[in-house]
Amino acid sequence: MAVGVFDSGLGGLTVLDAVQKKLPEVPFVYFADSAHAPYGVRNADDIYNLTTAAVSRLWDEGCDLVILACNTASAAALRRMQESWIPRDKRVLGVFVPLIEALTERKWGDNSPPREVAIKHVALFATPATVASRAFQRELAFRAIGVDVEAQACGGVVDAIEDGDMILAEALVRSHVDALKRKMPEPEAAILGCTHYPIMADAFQEALGPEVAVYSQANLVAESLADYLDRHPGMLGAGTETKYLTTGNPVKVSTGATRFLRRQVTFEQA
Ligand code: DGL
Repeated sequence: MAVGVFDSGLGGLTVLDAVQKKLPEVPFVYFADSAHAPYGVRNADDIYNLTTAAVSRLWDEGCDLVILACNTASAAALRRMQESWIPRDKRVLGVFVPLIEALTERKWGDNSPPREVAIKHVALFATPATVASRAFQRELAFRAIGVDVEAQACGGVVDAIEDGDMILAEALVRSHVDALKRKMPEPEAAILGCTHYPIMADAFQEALGPEVAVYSQANLVAESLADYLDRHPGMLGAGTETKYLTTGNPVKVSTGATRFLRRQVTFEQA
């Protein structure tokens, strides 16, 4: 049994860490498409082609269930994959829905009509491709009415994190929060809509101020995966080993991953 976790690079490790803590008995195969990161500046076809190639590789590793721990792939490619590409005996889950369910105070699978929710002004921080897809607003509109969403495309942040340049990443976060606040001076909640951004959660919170509730995905995805596996234990797949695969330089990616997770992580060439 093994579950696949995919991201363009290091960001999905924020999700991996949470799912490993929640489900310590499950082996996970993590795939970082570091050679092609960042995805957030690519077009939808490109993101679809890269994501399907990565997910196929995870199926070859014995994972029948793959988590796209990447908002950009979830926003730009998942729907198309679900419509025509995923075989019947496999599943691919995105990271958007658990977050939107939390924001709109819904339980899993509650498909009742959209209703008013407590939070009215939401700031969304995400990659340019995620913002352009409007996938977040679409999923939100299925569940809530009267929520004003202001989206800020945070160019450069993922590159800085992948390069380990945290000073640049912090400066970019401050400037993107300033830009957002010019459009929406008083957001009640902020969504970190890219799995790389929880690595910068303190910088976001500081720039936004203590009164803004900052939502990120890792723990919400872990809860929702545990719930899914309870209901679909057959999706655990044939793989038996936890491994870390990358299309990039395994030494460089291992160094970055070890720094973020504060434990030794060793990547091998995908
Ligand atoms: N961590 C990813 C996301 O959640 C991808 C970022 C990127 O490659 O641009 O969107």
